[in-house]
Order: sequence, then C-alpha cells, then structure tokens
Amino acid sequence: MISTKMTALFGIDHPVMQSGFRYISRAPFVAAVANAGALGTLSAHTQPTGTALREEIRETRRLADRPFAVNLTLLPENIASYPYGDYIDVIVDEGITVVETSGAKPAAYIERLKKAGVKVIHKCTSVRHALSAERYGADAVCVTGFESAGHPGEDDVPSLVLVPRVVDEVKIPVIASGGFADGRGLAAALSLGAVGVNMGTRFLVTQESPIHVESKKSLAGAGERDTTLIARSLGDSVRVLKTPVTAQVLELERSGAGKEALAPLIAADLWYRALTSGRIDEAPVPSGIALGLIRDVPTCAELVSRLMAEAEVTIGRLAGLGKA
Ligand SMILES: Cc1cc2nc3c(=O)[nH]c(=O)nc-3n(C[C@H](O)[C@H](O)[C@H](O)COP(=O)(O)O)c2cc1C
Repeated sequence: MISTKMTALFGIDHPVMQSGFRYISRAPFVAAVANAGALGTLSAHTQPTGTALREEIRETRRLADRPFAVNLTLLPENIASYPYGDYIDVIVDEGITVVETSGAKPAAYIERLKKAGVKVIHKCTSVRHALSAERYGADAVCVTGFESAGHPGEDDVPSLVLVPRVVDEVKIPVIASGGFADGRGLAAALSLGAVGVNMGTRFLVTQESPIHVESKKSLAGAGERDTTLIARSLGDSVRVLKTPVTAQVLELERSGAGKEALAPLIAADLWYRALTSGRIDEAPVPSGIALGLIRDVPTCAELVSRLMAEAEVTIGRLAGLGKA
C-alpha cells in the first residue's frame, strides 16, 4: 500500500484519481474506479439538470460503497448553459465529500462547498492559478501539464517542471496530472513532491470506459506523436488525437478562421459521437501524450492494481540504488 495525504484526505486506498470527462464519467465507469480503490470522478455537466445529477450520484453509490468525486467544469460557456447552482445544491444535499473544479476560478462556489465539509480539488495548469486556488481555500490542486488531454493551458510547461514548481509554491497537497499512465509515472510524481496522480487518457482506455471497443483499439494503437493542439489561435488550446478532421481544423486556423467557423468541427458532441461510434477519425478527440504508454485495455481494477505494483517495484529499485 502507498498511503499519502491524498489517500488520507479523500478516504481512498490508492493515490490515483480518474479525471472527470464530459459525457464519459458516468455511474458504472466511476463506480468501477471507486471499487478499485482509486478516486473516481463523475462529470456534473454531463447531466442536464440537478435532478439528473442526483440520480447519477445515487446510481454510483448503488454500484460502489466508496468515496468518489464530482467534477464541475467552470468554463464560461458551460456556466451559461448548465444549472451550476442546482448541481451545488445536489452535491451538498447528497453528502458528496470531494469536488473537483476546473476551467475557471471556483470563487463563486467554494465557500458553500467548504461550509458543507466538501473537500475541493482545483484543477489548473500554472503556478499562478494554483496559488490563486490555495488563496480561495482549495484543499488540493490537481496540476495538469502540457502533456495533458483536453485543455493543457497556454503556457506549455510539461509536468516534469510544472509539478515541482507548484509543490515549491503552495502548501496544500498537489496531485500530478498530464502524461501519467503507469506505476513509473506515479513513483515519479511522488518523487516530485506530489501526493498522487490524476489520469485521463489512461482511464479512457479501460474495459469500463463507455466508449466503443474500436475507439479503445485505435487509442491503444496510437503513440506519443499522435496528438496535437487545436484552437490555439483562439487562446483555448485543446490536445486531441491527430485525425483528418484535426488537420482540417489546423488548416482553417492557419487561414485565420474564427470561433464560428471552427465550432462545427470541434464541438464536444462531435468527439463524443466519434468515441462512441468507433469512428474516431471523424472528430478531434481529446487525448494526451500518455497514448505512448498505453498498449492494452485493462479493467479499472487491473489497471489500478498493476499501477500500484509497478510503483512499489520502482520505489524499491530507487531505494536500492547505491546499496549494491
Ligand atoms: C475525452 C476527454 C474528455 C475530457 N473532459 C473534461 C471535462 O469535461 N472537464 C475537465 O476538467 N477535464 C476534461 N478532460 C481532461 C481530463 O480531465 C484530464 O485533465 C486530462 O485527461 C489529464 O491528462 P492525461 O490525459 O494526460 O492523463 C477530458 C479529457 C478527455 C480525454
């Protein structure tokens, strides 16, 4: 067992978190992660209403009697389209113990969550945002480097530098995110001063992840050179799998196309359809550089137990250095 501040803070067995994915982080998947002893994360804005989120939380609890988190992605376009006030009411009412915020400052919500005893993890991509989350009262930060799937920010600082930089600056626990997929990565994150890892792309390619089996095969067959950044020209970079549509998006960006012209190619429901139909080439699907480390499609339980065994072997090997 590897116990850290992360396992103690959230009441989980292993210092591993599954990212909150829009559309994908629903009850059976999150419950599989929770039952594996890691921190599963439901996605709030996958649910159209507070009532639907309540049902999803209850269904997760029915499937797993373990703690799990709820992700609140606070991107301005989400705030405009989804009932965040209702989500918070339901989270507090249902006794959820961990919330992950991302996309923007949790300022408007954190006080209510903290008053209700909810532990707040804020996911961010820079030292300055981690410091600001600490000031707002976050209990932990999940720091996601340039390798990350989805939104890696605009600073282009990889996890190897970003994680220890944040560890040096904040007093709250730091969860390392972006590029982590195996036990060597977990051991590395711990040695950088993190309390555990968050994994997105790796958990996306598991048996319980609700995407098409052909999509899982394609992702497991892809490598570390198969992602790129789109929407950089809009100041809102997204790391995605290279596909013909991705190339089309980049070409449009080079020709000066704006948000309106790009939206029909990059909307979230398009990548969700591509992932669930198995026709992964049909949209820019969020994926991280960790693809280079992903070769199989394990169950969440197999993945977490393998990861922990690998981390322990790695830590043992490091402890033995210089003793021969
Ligand atoms: C398909 C997909 C959907 C995602 N959706 C969200 C989201 O809705 N909110 C969010 O905060 N992060 C989202 N992310 C980013 C992940 O939560 C996480 O930060 C990232 O995958 C970590 O990097 P890694 O993939 O290298 O492990 C998504 C990632 C993927 C692959």
